Amino acid sequence: MDIPVIETERLRLRGISAEDLDDFAEMNASPDFAKYFGTGKPLSRWESWNVLTMLAGHWMVRQFGFWFVEEKETRRFVGRVGIWYPDGWPGIEIGWGISPKFWGKGYATEAARASRDWAFETLDLDDLISVIHPENEASKRVAMRIGESFRETLTVNGKRSDIYSMSRS
Ligand SMILES: CC(C)(COP(=O)(O)OP(=O)(O)OC[C@H]1O[C@@H](n2cnc3c(N)ncnc32)[C@H](O)[C@@H]1OP(=O)(O)O)[C@@H](O)C(=O)NCCC(=O)NCCS
Repeated sequence: MDIPVIETERLRLRGISAEDLDDFAEMNASPDFAKYFGTGKPLSRWESWNVLTMLAGHWMVRQFGFWFVEEKETRRFVGRVGIWYPDGWPGIEIGWGISPKFWGKGYATEAARASRDWAFETLDLDDLISVIHPENEASKRVAMRIGESFRETLTVNGKRSDIYSMSRS
């Protein structure tokens, strides 16, 4: 399927391709990046390939998913931001992951706002959630800046997680 392209002031949210693997694997291999989700450990290139193809496949089975994000000016790969709903999840999630070399520029917030707007305009949703490691303060800042607030703490996929959420209204 065609993954929609969204442009913000500095970023382009676009589809996923096999040519992104080098950049995607470099991001996932960073211990700083991996610290607060999944196993908490950096991914091998093979694991990154599996995640890349899973994220692409998510669009096929749900008609929404993560975009890969690039800087408009340089076309450099910045990270992945979008909407997903894995089996057993407590709700439809808006999520973000930015390569450490681009942290602190407001890119996660900029891309997440665009994803949020696309989701509420395109999907029949009442609310969105974010599943956040209790110590991931940077991620909580992004959640709050895009309009989410703390809802509850739940065990998600075997891990205690803080759930942030926002409603369409
Ligand atoms: C969370 C993440 C996406 C933020 O990316 P980013 O592009 O740097 O985010 P932004 O610049 O838009 O905003 C980051 C906010 O967190 C704040 N912040 C950054 N590090 C922080 C820390 N250690 N403690 C508290 N706040 C922190 C920044 O000051 C900023 O808030 P502010 O603008 O209100 O000052 C990035 O750190 C990341 O990819 N981390 C690894 C993957 C991850 O944990 N993803 C989230 C899974 S739930």
